[in-house]
Amino acid sequence: MNTSHLFKALGRAVVCTSAALGMLGSGGLAHAQIAVGKTKFLGNIIAGNPPGNFSMYWNQVSPENAGKWDAVEPVRDQMNWGQLDAAYNYARSNGFPFKQHTFVWGSQEPKWIGGLSAQQQAHEVEDFIRQYCQRYPQTQYIDVVNEPLHQPASYREALGGAGSTGWDWIVWSFQKARQHCPTAKLLINEYGIINDANALNRYKVIVDILKSRGLIDGVGIQSHYFSMDNLAPATIKQNLDSLAQTGLPIYVSELDMTGDDATQLARYQQKFPALWTHPGVAGVTLWGYIEGQTWVANSHLVRRDGSERPALTWLGNYVRSNPGSGGAANKSIVVRARGTSGQERVTLRVGGTAVQTWTLGKTMTNYTFTTTLSGGSTVEFTNDATGRDVQVDYLSVNGSVRQAESQTYNTGVYQNGRCGGGSGRSDWLHCNGAIGFGDL
Ligand code: G3I
Repeated sequence: MNTSHLFKALGRAVVCTSAALGMLGSGGLAHAQIAVGKTKFLGNIIAGNPPGNFSMYWNQVSPENAGKWDAVEPVRDQMNWGQLDAAYNYARSNGFPFKQHTFVWGSQEPKWIGGLSAQQQAHEVEDFIRQYCQRYPQTQYIDVVNEPLHQPASYREALGGAGSTGWDWIVWSFQKARQHCPTAKLLINEYGIINDANALNRYKVIVDILKSRGLIDGVGIQSHYFSMDNLAPATIKQNLDSLAQTGLPIYVSELDMTGDDATQLARYQQKFPALWTHPGVAGVTLWGYIEGQTWVANSHLVRRDGSERPALTWLGNYVRSNPGSGGAANKSIVVRARGTSGQERVTLRVGGTAVQTWTLGKTMTNYTFTTTLSGGSTVEFTNDATGRDVQVDYLSVNGSVRQAESQTYNTGVYQNGRCGGGSGRSDWLHCNGAIGFGDL
């Protein structure tokens, strides 16, 4: 290890240890999120400042309005990132995956877009996408196009209109998102799908067009109260089965269910398991939870005084005692890492078995692997020659991020003058050794 890497490794070890102690001191670890350690995430939205109790419940973040184009750029070329920064930084600092919502949508468009030429419109859409991606490079998921069936972008002709595929403007949007945000998982998002086989089939046509071009990584279904409140679990299963035929992971992206305490509880009890246990569902995001701060009345799960409604208490108990499935059947692993020489090789082990070896580039890159194996996971450095070092950002399992520096097992870090000589908390590997990321 050269001296600068040694100091970086030592510095990070000290910083990370004190950060972890700080969290313990403030009680931040006292209440783990509902789906912590599960193979799927259970997330929620953040509007404005992150609520103090967010991390008591949720382990994925979507911005409610702050990521929409009219919120970011209300005046042409004057970007307003403040609230999006707050949501993104909160997600990053807690190790929660962040899902941008949204790039191309026919609602909450900036008012000035309508007055421009087609060429200027396309330029401005790409500019928004490019600037977003530069500012938030660690974004895990993006709702690239929102509500294509119900609320298509007013400027869609400028992006290619229907064209030869019938949906060229969507293809264009995903191409730009892929180009500028190459490491994010790109999603489409729509409402009224879980309850309507006709809309579902029209949605699948768009998904297949994108899939055949390698442009889409998952399918979002909003699942708001107006679709969910009176929906039979058998219909949920049937429609999820149909959507899963695309071969892409499904993200329940904006779930809410309404009612007085008893009605809402019954609805969660009856319908949530059909979503959570479906093997095609990779994550669930609820659309608000605090009374007075949800877009529709009686969908909240925490009252103004901070107490839980019965549906939330049930949800917590249910998810904590239910692993879900699909996660278990098919785990999507991302190891985000870099080397310093371009010759470093790392091996992913699951339950002691070496399942994949990658040669790392010099910039942070997502290395992906899908497995049905279970057991302890490690990322092991197997090529320790002079001037070689590995920095691991995180390992994620079905989108649920485990930061390297938060792990207590690191036998490859150089600390206190020797290999494995410290607390172990570090995202660096210099010596032959591994970072343990817990059970898959
Ligand atoms: O910011 C202004 C504020 O300055 C003004 O005083 C106030 C009074 O009208 O309005 C505020 O803007 C409101 C904004 O929410 C922020 O609170 C808008 O009027 C209101 O229309 C907007 O509603 C949002 C809605 O999207 C707009 O389409 C909801 O908060 C948001 O939850 C909702 O989210 C959508 C998803 O993006 C897509 N799927 C459906 C979902 C529910 O409609």
